[in-house]
Amino acid sequence: MPAIVVLGAQWGDEGKGKATDLLGSTLDYCVRYQGGNNAGHTIVINGEKFATHLLPSGILTPGCTPVIGNGVVIDARVLLSELDALAERGVQTQPLLVSANAHLITSYHTTIDKVTERFLGKNRIGTTGRGIGPTYADKINRMGVRVADIFDEKILAEKVEGALEQKNHLLVKVFNRRAISVDEVLEEIASYADRIKPMVVDTSLLLNKALDDGKTVLFEGAQATMLDVDHGTYPFVTSSNPTAGGVSPGSGIGPTRIDRVIGVIKAYTTRVGSGPFPTELLDDDGDRLRTIGAEYGVTTGRDRRCGWYDAVIARYANRINGLSEFFLTKLDVLGAWDRIPVCVAYEIDGVRHEEMPMTQSEFHHAKPVYEFFDGWNEDISGCRSFEELPKNAQTYVRALEEMSGAPFWGVGVGPGREETIVLR
Ligand code: GDP
Ligand code: IMO
Ligand code: MG
Repeated sequence: MPAIVVLGAQWGDEGKGKATDLLGSTLDYCVRYQGGNNAGHTIVINGEKFATHLLPSGILTPGCTPVIGNGVVIDARVLLSELDALAERGVQTQPLLVSANAHLITSYHTTIDKVTERFLGKNRIGTTGRGIGPTYADKINRMGVRVADIFDEKILAEKVEGALEQKNHLLVKVFNRRAISVDEVLEEIASYADRIKPMVVDTSLLLNKALDDGKTVLFEGAQATMLDVDHGTYPFVTSSNPTAGGVSPGSGIGPTRIDRVIGVIKAYTTRVGSGPFPTELLDDDGDRLRTIGAEYGVTTGRDRRCGWYDAVIARYANRINGLSEFFLTKLDVLGAWDRIPVCVAYEIDGVRHEEMPMTQSEFHHAKPVYEFFDGWNEDISGCRSFEELPKNAQTYVRALEEMSGAPFWGVGVGPGREETIVLR
């Protein structure tokens, strides 16, 4: 009955798509449980590149049913265009299933996301502008529009009307923007409703039955631990719970059903958007990590901020998620350095911290304490076993494993599906 969770251990873009794809052949279901089309997951199969934003990465695996759980926020136009794009490329997929309880992102959510960011100026979060925060805010505020509402025109109209009564005050009086009409939003929803309706099922019932029947279900996290609204670098976070605890409310399966939790972690660190980042490199090394690692956002195309591996964050991710293992990615990118620093602790106001400090103000001025490892200065993308790795790369991997707190299940040595070393 395995239920497996794959999630990000840092600030996103760790290679979750690739890790999910690797487990692909064994999966019956692949489930998104939070986030929306703020995610960008890349999968490279036989040299061909695919990027998914809202669709679960498992959609590329023959025989695997993709599911969008109740915890996800859905921009249905994006959903349909992603499905159409895959069909155009001739990708055969199982029918997508969507929870009736998931919330819809509408044009007023994306508009409010963008104008809020502009309003914040230098204090902006650096969101993806996809309407994620405003949609989750409406959900918590009990004024959201859910997928189920597309089945009842009267309720739908009432909900949109109620929401716009407030939103238009905000748009017009605070942000000096034009008001959005109820009809405009209802027309937008009507434009896709008939295509979405056949996908809608009780996904909680479906997944629990699947687990009862011994099927393998993968819960694919988007974003990451440090972007979690509770456990991340608040307020510079996304508006959901990408951490393992989010699986249960986001999909309707109980926590006791989960068997494995895999934290995907890069051999260095990246971050997109604003917020603290202790090991960030603003020098040549940072630029080289970005260039060699191709660290540019899949969703917004922004440069990713780059820095060294941070073992304090790894230990924190292990603690918050109760990881059973890590999957280390992008080790190949470090092949161009003679000496590789790893952050083993922070110094904050003269005090050494082995664990994440309690407050964000402390984290904002945490200075990394580095330990240095010898580089290997060679291309390792052809290695397929741990023994084939250069000795210095082996030492680096074992040292990270030791300081991060959970066993390493595999190591990525390139973007391709086959460019992987499985350790256990
Ligand atoms: P996700 O959001 O966690 O799924 O990650 P992204 O797709 O946004 O970013 C990860 C990038 O790294 C993608 O371009 C992947 O193709 C690539 N990638 C994944 N694993 C490896 C690896 O082991 N080595 C290299 N060089 N690239 C990798
Ligand atoms: P994947 O799944 C990296 C970041 C944004 C911003 C913050 C809030 O590909 O790892 P939001 O639009 O969610 O309100 O933005 O979160 N962010 C990501 N950074 N990878 C992602 O997804 C991200 N999704 C959101 O840059 O700092
Ligand atoms: Mg990504």
